[in-house]
Amino acid sequence: MSSTGQPLDTNCMTLTRYVLAEQRKVPGATGDLTQLLNSLQSAIKAVSSAVRKAGIAKLFGIAGETNVQGEEVKKLDVLSNELFINLLRSSFTTCLLVSEENEAVIEVETDRQGKYVVCFDPLDGSSNIDCLVSIGSIFAIYKKSHDCTPSVADALQPGNKLVAAGYALYGSATMMVLSTGQGVNGFMLDPAIGEFVLTDPNMRIPSRGKIYSINEGYAHLWEPAVAEYVASKKDPAKGKIYGARYVGSMVADVHRTLKYGGIFMYPATKDAPKGKLRLLYECNPMAYIITQAGGLASNGKIPTLDIVPDSIHQRAPIFLGSKDDVQDVLDIIKKHSV
Ligand code: AHG
Ligand code: MN
Ligand code: MN
Repeated sequence: MSSTGQPLDTNCMTLTRYVLAEQRKVPGATGDLTQLLNSLQSAIKAVSSAVRKAGIAKLFGIAGETNVQGEEVKKLDVLSNELFINLLRSSFTTCLLVSEENEAVIEVETDRQGKYVVCFDPLDGSSNIDCLVSIGSIFAIYKKSHDCTPSVADALQPGNKLVAAGYALYGSATMMVLSTGQGVNGFMLDPAIGEFVLTDPNMRIPSRGKIYSINEGYAHLWEPAVAEYVASKKDPAKGKIYGARYVGSMVADVHRTLKYGGIFMYPATKDAPKGKLRLLYECNPMAYIITQAGGLASNGKIPTLDIVPDSIHQRAPIFLGSKDDVQDVLDIIKKHSV
């Protein structure tokens, strides 16, 4: 018995065990993806630990630099980025890395190269660090399709070519959500053993929710279709009223949408005609998870996963969540475009 009186699970499904078992199902698998995911897990555990003791370790505040997007870089952003880069590089499974924090692609040294390309946002929601609101990390994994030297082109693959993707949420607990193309599974970090344990097997998003999530401060900059959709969620004459929730950390907003259903939107605005969120390491991995869980993700015109990227830091508008909710907004956008 544990100290809480609950019997101990002496046969629990850890993330490491889960990934290994999945690998065994694929005949001829090399184990490289397993090794990559183990390194990624280590990076995420280290970021989680840093997040939990940020105050005491004086990791709050600004590191005194701006990143390639011209935003302030926090100390935790720098630390998380270094952890991701160092652990992925030394996993002997990657050849190219794309990070939100690095302007150019990072090419792994030849003697450590493997076949995978990883795009990541090492710390998402950094404006929430100093007030202790949930933050996260996001990752997308592609395979290089040739034996030649890796180049930027290997990172510019559409999301429908993803091998695996997911995120870590540093919320009231730390959770890692992963898909390798066969559904979505959620693993909670058990601090007692330092392992991610399968707590949310085969996650499915409800087909309709009752929450909309968008930064309403930009309402004056929205396209009429987005304004009409959001207004409809507040008008009892148009149907059931929805609740509004917006954390401002994409990982937290998407995780809530996955668990409870509803819609998350970061549309184009007059100021930002491509929206704000980055295709390679924010929109695509989240679209992959939501799609794998039975939901929809679109830029308003085509499925997010079908967008062919032309540059590594490009942005895309995004509407993602419950199938019926996303379809509603897509129908209004279509009506406005004819
Ligand atoms: P990051 O901290 O990696 O730069 O990402 C912040 C993103 C995303 O997490 C969130 O959904 C969005 O910025 C919030 O933007 P607004 O403040 O414009 O709503
Ligand atoms: Mn981000
Ligand atoms: Mn970030």
